[in-house]
Amino acid sequence: MDKVEKTATEKGAIMVIEDEAHLRQGITDFLTRRGYEVHAAANGDRAIELLSEVVVDVILTDMKMKGLSNLSLVDALQEKAPDVQIIVMTAFGTIQQAVDAMKRGIYDYLTKPLNLDELLIYLEKALEKKRLQQEIDTLRQELYLRHSFGNIIGKSYKMQEVYQNIEKVAATNATVLILGESGTGKQMVASAIHYNSLRKNGPFVTLTCSSIPESLLASEIFGYEKGAFTGAQTTKIGKFEAAHNGTLFIDEVSEIDAGVQVSLLRFLQERNFERVGGNQTISADVRVIAASNKDLYEEIKKGNFREDLYYRLNVLPIYLAPLRERKEDIPLLAEHLLRKYVKENNKDIKGFTTEAILLLMSYDWPGNVRELENIIERAVIMTDGPWIHSSQLLPHLSGEDILAKEVAFGENLRLDNNFEHVEKYLIVRALDETQGNKTKAAELLGITYRALRYKLDRYGFDKGDAE
Ligand SMILES: Nc1ncnc2c1ncn2[C@@H]1O[C@H](COP(=O)(O)OP(=O)(O)OP(=O)(O)O)[C@@H](O)[C@H]1O
Ligand SMILES: [Mg+2]
Repeated sequence: MDKVEKTATEKGAIMVIEDEAHLRQGITDFLTRRGYEVHAAANGDRAIELLSEVVVDVILTDMKMKGLSNLSLVDALQEKAPDVQIIVMTAFGTIQQAVDAMKRGIYDYLTKPLNLDELLIYLEKALEKKRLQQEIDTLRQELYLRHSFGNIIGKSYKMQEVYQNIEKVAATNATVLILGESGTGKQMVASAIHYNSLRKNGPFVTLTCSSIPESLLASEIFGYEKGAFTGAQTTKIGKFEAAHNGTLFIDEVSEIDAGVQVSLLRFLQERNFERVGGNQTISADVRVIAASNKDLYEEIKKGNFREDLYYRLNVLPIYLAPLRERKEDIPLLAEHLLRKYVKENNKDIKGFTTEAILLLMSYDWPGNVRELENIIERAVIMTDGPWIHSSQLLPHLSGEDILAKEVAFGENLRLDNNFEHVEKYLIVRALDETQGNKTKAAELLGITYRALRYKLDRYGFDKGDAE
């Protein structure tokens, strides 16, 4: 026979618990001959012990034995191995116990004397159920994982692509270019790549080009020799040497001036450089990740950025979409950030009201996740009650943004159509100026506190709580 046999563990691992030695041996031999991996135990206590040593898919157990038996045995087995399918073997007179065990969630029961062919059918069905259960668990796990990558949160298709890209590039040493508007998470992605790469035990060094004066940038990146310029009292290593065996994250790479662009290009091509004022060629084993919130292609056209450097950097690009293009991530991000700041500020806040989440989703987030984070942090600090209401978020959102969006819906200049937009805008501005204090905002607007509450309610900004 040329049939390819499954190995024992592939076919399934079975535990047989039976105090009657003959029967135990009989079942064990029968199943072993059919290719199953079998672990036999002479009583319940031994079975529980054995479950610490072996992993099984199905347990076939007698009910009435000395020591641990009946329903307490079922309970103990389920506690020890919650994802195992249990088949109970019971004598004719004790079916009621089998029925009780069914209520405990065992897979099924068989009556003694056993019919071994029948046993095999039940066993295969239980194994099939176990496999399905495993598949469901894996799927559920995957589904969960796709909602985040380490600290990076987001379940949108665009973020899933980002997670896949991080995984792919982390396994390589190639240069990565991360593009995205300010506050979209470029720094987070850069560090996720480093800490998931083979270099994770090496240094992760950040260089923020915009924060260093042009004249100092070269010595910051490449270091300098003693006496290279006035004030260079000692030799100092630069970021490249500091990042040896690790990763250098060059943030806002578009801000690098022309001279340093040439040296960076050379490093990317030849992996070496000289310190400022030095002539010794130094090589460093550094993976470069660059980021920019500017459209580098535009910068090339304007003559601010070298095209050849762009291509050297752009080996593996990762693009982070602005938050307004993946609004389905907002509720998840908001909850995540809320938990972070609730913990940090030791507050007792349960969550956002539905109106608050709707408001967060209606806003366009020019400052992306960073702006969302700031607004949530402020709301957490300001809120005393258990829920964050939209009125607590509203003062921090830019009124112009909301107005612009609202007015875009108004097609004509009829006052009756657009009056609401203008009124909303003024309310937002007043709340903004008074940091959300409704009493003071009402004063500014020249209306009563009650009238303001009414209007906020009417515009669906808040279900309203006293302030
Ligand atoms: N997907 C995300 N999940 C959780 N937090 C995020 C996410 N994206 C951004 N943040 C948070 O938003 C803030 C800004 O992120 P980060 O500094 O990585 O953005 P950036 O793209 O580097 O911005 P900039 O261009 O302004 O430097 C950080 O505090 C970060 O924790
Ligand atoms: Mg950044």
